[in-house]
Amino acid sequence: MTVLDGRPPTAVAHPLQRLSADEIDAARELLARTGLVTGTTRFALLALAEPDKAQVLAHRDGDPVDRRVRAVLLDVATGRSRVVVASLTRDTVDTVTDIDPAVDGQPPIMLEEYAAADEIVKADPGWVAAMARRGITDLDLVRPCPLSAGHFDLPGEAGRRLLRVLSFVQHRAADHCWAHPVDGLVAYVDLTERRVVELVDHELLPVPEEEGNFDDPAYTGPPRTTLKPVEITQPDGPSFTVDGDAVRWEGWSFRVGFDPREGLVLYLLSYAGRPVIYRASIAEMVVPYADPSPVRFWQNYFDAGEYLLGHQANSLELGCDCLGEIYYFDAVLADGLGHPHRIPNAICMHEEDFGVLWKHTDLFTGSRETRRQRRLVVSFFVTVGNYDYGFYWYLYLDGTIAFEAKATGVLFTSAYRRGSRWASEVAPGLGAPYHQHIFNARLDMMVDGLTNAVDEVEVRPVPIGPDNPYGNAFTRHATRIARESMGARMADNSVGRFWQVVNPTRVNRLGQPVGYALYPQGTPVLLADETASVARRAAFATRHLWVTRYHPDERYPAGELVNQHPGGAGLPAYQAADRDLDGADVVLWHTFGMTHLPRPEDWPVMPVDTCGFVLRPVGFFDRNPTLDVPPTHARSGHHGCA
Ligand code: NI
Repeated sequence: MTVLDGRPPTAVAHPLQRLSADEIDAARELLARTGLVTGTTRFALLALAEPDKAQVLAHRDGDPVDRRVRAVLLDVATGRSRVVVASLTRDTVDTVTDIDPAVDGQPPIMLEEYAAADEIVKADPGWVAAMARRGITDLDLVRPCPLSAGHFDLPGEAGRRLLRVLSFVQHRAADHCWAHPVDGLVAYVDLTERRVVELVDHELLPVPEEEGNFDDPAYTGPPRTTLKPVEITQPDGPSFTVDGDAVRWEGWSFRVGFDPREGLVLYLLSYAGRPVIYRASIAEMVVPYADPSPVRFWQNYFDAGEYLLGHQANSLELGCDCLGEIYYFDAVLADGLGHPHRIPNAICMHEEDFGVLWKHTDLFTGSRETRRQRRLVVSFFVTVGNYDYGFYWYLYLDGTIAFEAKATGVLFTSAYRRGSRWASEVAPGLGAPYHQHIFNARLDMMVDGLTNAVDEVEVRPVPIGPDNPYGNAFTRHATRIARESMGARMADNSVGRFWQVVNPTRVNRLGQPVGYALYPQGTPVLLADETASVARRAAFATRHLWVTRYHPDERYPAGELVNQHPGGAGLPAYQAADRDLDGADVVLWHTFGMTHLPRPEDWPVMPVDTCGFVLRPVGFFDRNPTLDVPPTHARSGHHGCA
């Protein structure tokens, strides 16, 4: 066994503890020693292979842990790839599975391939000539973008490792290229053969000239001077405690995880020792574009499965990204060569005042009580090309759990054609194609235990009749989602539809099964035609909710290897088993997102737009669980808020 720092790399306190730099080193060493790593092998992904839920729940302090890793290896010389599962504890490779890229999809896009795409197109005489036809000769100022290829059954593409490359141009090194799309031209690049396999030079379009340098005072004008400082102080420190990856705050407890693909993961989320969610993450997101032109029809980026959200995480800065008493977690991931790479301050955690929690002024007793809401925020931010996304989990004093995605950064632009049905004009001659940002949250529920069931609840009007002579009645209507064949659902805000996870074996003091309900925003699902490639590959995005029975291998809404996958994997495949869901260990997969018709105000940098969802306790508690929240003191000096 490899021993590092005098201890085995597997001496971990908890089976879900994040992989350490030592463990990443040990994993690379084991795979190299067993002949799986050569000079041309890359680690497209290396992650903790999480033990089965039953093992994790049975774990007690001091129990031995079998630390396993899962690696997706790519030989960049041959294009051959495989999935390896190995045990660091037992120092053995457990499984090696070859990938057939035409059937299984390709490993995710790697950082070094961004640079490769740049070199490959700039070495292609056809692409250089196409640039010259557009008046662009200084190729050092051209920024080719490494864009995932999708799967379109185009001739000659089966099995190739591809990127499609659209380009932008800078006026100088500090000029943001997104203002100057070089449109009408796309290069299809084979990353293994390192050459352009097809150049689509569809039409000459003018390159928009106006600059969009939001970081240049010459463009923005002088900063305003009217904003007075806001200082957030917690003189006694924050109310949470951290022990390794384990966090406790105001009744809540959970473990922080960080996966190369999903980024932040919350494990074993419990309130007062009662489990609510075993594992929560944003397991996929896709950004499908609406422009059907021959140069852009293929634009659908799966930012988790193709680009790996965790690897795109920013290092956050106090006073900029996060205000107040902040606790940061670093992230450690394996780079393309399998070496540990630290992202300092990748995860931000802090408390926020969130306005009024509850309040009443009583007409009859004269009582006047107000309590303030507070939330714990656990977040990280990624940059995926032009866009930046924040992923924010919120825990509230009253048992509410919420998630919010924040989208900002720069629009993906095009040359604007007057009267376009697929794009907005956001600056003179500059287009921004319509698109969606669609997320899928995987919520492995565990409401007060593993025996759960899901009801679809809505309100229904009741016709006038003997029971309802004046027509005022309306009622709650619940339908049990009993099997997976019923498990793909649509939101409907016109009837206030939500999904309530109950534990039929646990009741509150009123005899009702304890529950937590998911409240969707009900924004549009995938708008592409149901026969489109992206609708097969992102089938998860065609419904607001999917319910499946827990299976340890079912982790990804669009399947294991998303890059260039033909489709049909993930949720549709999981649900085909039509397993029983009533009184089972269930997983909710919730689709939500933004449909973005870009505005002039989104240029040259987009103010944050948000989407998300809320989970609230419904009969989980016997009454309002925040009656013990003390009053704060009024600033007026007369008396307290109470
Ligand atoms: Ni957008």
